[in-house]
Amino acid sequence: MIVDDSDRSIRLAVGMLREGRVVAMPTETVYGLAADASNAEAVSRIFAAKGRPPDHPLIVHLGIGANLRDWARHVPEEASRLAEALWPGPLTVILERHASVLPEVTGGLGTVAIRIPAHPVTQRLLESFGGGLAAPSANRFGRVSPTTARDVCSDLGSAVDLVIDGGPCEIGVESTIVAFIEGEVTILRPGAISPEAIARVLGHPIGTTAHSPVRAPGMLASHYAPTTPLELCMPDEIALRGAELVSAGARVGVLALVRIEVPGATAIWDAGGDIGIFARSLYRHLRQADAEALDILVVELPPDEGLGVAVRDRLRRAARR
Ligand code: TXA
Ligand code: MG
Repeated sequence: MIVDDSDRSIRLAVGMLREGRVVAMPTETVYGLAADASNAEAVSRIFAAKGRPPDHPLIVHLGIGANLRDWARHVPEEASRLAEALWPGPLTVILERHASVLPEVTGGLGTVAIRIPAHPVTQRLLESFGGGLAAPSANRFGRVSPTTARDVCSDLGSAVDLVIDGGPCEIGVESTIVAFIEGEVTILRPGAISPEAIARVLGHPIGTTAHSPVRAPGMLASHYAPTTPLELCMPDEIALRGAELVSAGARVGVLALVRIEVPGATAIWDAGGDIGIFARSLYRHLRQADAEALDILVVELPPDEGLGVAVRDRLRRAARR
């Protein structure tokens, strides 16, 4: 059932969460499928609803003013600084877990992922609930993350009892994940908080997974994948490649930062030259590609900076199969 974001809906959701049930909630990045992080049975319902392997760790979402030390054994000074500067917001930090954090939440790891989201509806929910909410993206395992309440329903169906509709997600790609493990700071997943923004807060550049032994267990190839195959292109290659595919008889879709004409294409989408709009509408377009039964979606790889880093990362994963 989809409900609005009124106080009545929040009360209904909190009641269900206290009973150990799962509730889908909006966040500024993507919709999450939430359960009480201190209730192992409730957390197991998330995995069942998503069809996700139980050894995949979840992010614990906390309210503004929550004490990180209730969840992490040790909070490095640089982690505190990032949290201070960038929370609430699309940032997840990975820290050594406090002994009280359920292994069901951390996938049995010695670390825990924590995020204080900025979406006002999520914050009202967290404040009324009073504890931590474990929540992965509210999609079936391996599929595209939902950015509207309707996406959650069409993907999870009756596996989720309640979806709070907080409108379309403003950012549209998942949070930036930064790990603080054994004195090393590493970006495990790029997001709206860019490497440049993190470097500005910390006063030095930081590495990404490519240069680190630290691994994110959920970072599988062929994640965030639509059914439609994707072909990733530089902007100046799209018109020619699109034309080739159209003349071969394919139902072709085109997704680019700035509109590119491909005569005979079934769908042509663009982001008006704005990388923020590209990110916000990316998953919607991947879903639309499936809905239009395209044979192939030709997508522009945006410039490798700022939010473009996260968009390229998701496109690469969506294109791999
Ligand atoms: O924006 C987001 O982060 C959204 C919203 C709902 O908050 N959540 C989200 O959750 O994207 P999920 O579960 O789809 O992705 C979380 C990622 C997974 O790849 C998981 O493996 C990784 O975070 N992760 C969680 N805990 C971890 C840990 N202790 N060590 C390494 N990676 C971890
Ligand atoms: Mg996910």
